[in-house]
Amino acid sequence: MDRPANGGLHVGLIMDGNGRWARARGLPRTEGHRRGADAVRRAVEAAPGLGITTLTLYAFSADNWRRPAAEVSTLMRLLESFLARERMRCRRRGVRLALIGRRDRLSPALVRAIEETERATRDGARLYLRLAVDYSARAAILAAAGTLRPDERCDENGFLQRVNRACHSDPDTPSVDLVIRTSGEQRLSDFLLFESAYAEFLFIATLWPDFDGQDLRRAVEAFRRRERRYGGLTPDKAARAANRPRRDFGVGNAPLPAGGFR
Ligand code: FPP
Repeated sequence: MDRPANGGLHVGLIMDGNGRWARARGLPRTEGHRRGADAVRRAVEAAPGLGITTLTLYAFSADNWRRPAAEVSTLMRLLESFLARERMRCRRRGVRLALIGRRDRLSPALVRAIEETERATRDGARLYLRLAVDYSARAAILAAAGTLRPDERCDENGFLQRVNRACHSDPDTPSVDLVIRTSGEQRLSDFLLFESAYAEFLFIATLWPDFDGQDLRRAVEAFRRRERRYGGLTPDKAARAANRPRRDFGVGNAPLPAGGFR
């Protein structure tokens, strides 16, 4: 099976501000979510042209179940219709779509829509699109830790693979290069905590339903101007290419303690 090209960027997007967008227009919050789904399509269309090969969108956190039932069910219906509508379009455009997060609390119809979409798009090699639904980064880390046997050694990349597996992602999904949050809020909200250890962060004022390809292009340009040093003193091109901190120099080269990372 073809895999998304390595070496491209992994961008995580916290899509925030749907409710405020709607309120500012005197519309129900659900209308903000509906318009938010249009913005999702715009971001997905723009991503491959900007060098993004993995895009993770935070669509519904494990804590979002606390919202009013009517809003939750609108969001679930939107997801289901998004999958039905976009499935063939993703397939044609080389987008491999996957859902990361728990599935046991989703409706059988939504799970079927997810599985059908994952099957239909599994050969997509231009963009790996992950929709985080009923997702909690802390839960994924805990589940990954639970797979370690007492004496098992595990380095950062090995653990990343376990975190990926724990949330139903391709185990080879790389760490995140850039996390963007819209709407001016500045927090991670339990999104990709392990994967964003060396990510750059961009908090932009645009409310999610207004987000478009130009916003994504500007964000990627701002990211490319950043100097990523991975704890060193100079930009580390090798680490950037490998999408992870280098471990073959200085203190970072120290072997793991006996017994490894438990
Ligand atoms: C945060 O805005 C947004 C969400 C909790 C849901 C994100 C959902 C979408 C963008 C639409 C559906 C997604 C797909 C993939 C079809 P908020 O409601 O917290 O906004 P607020 O902070 O202004 O109230």
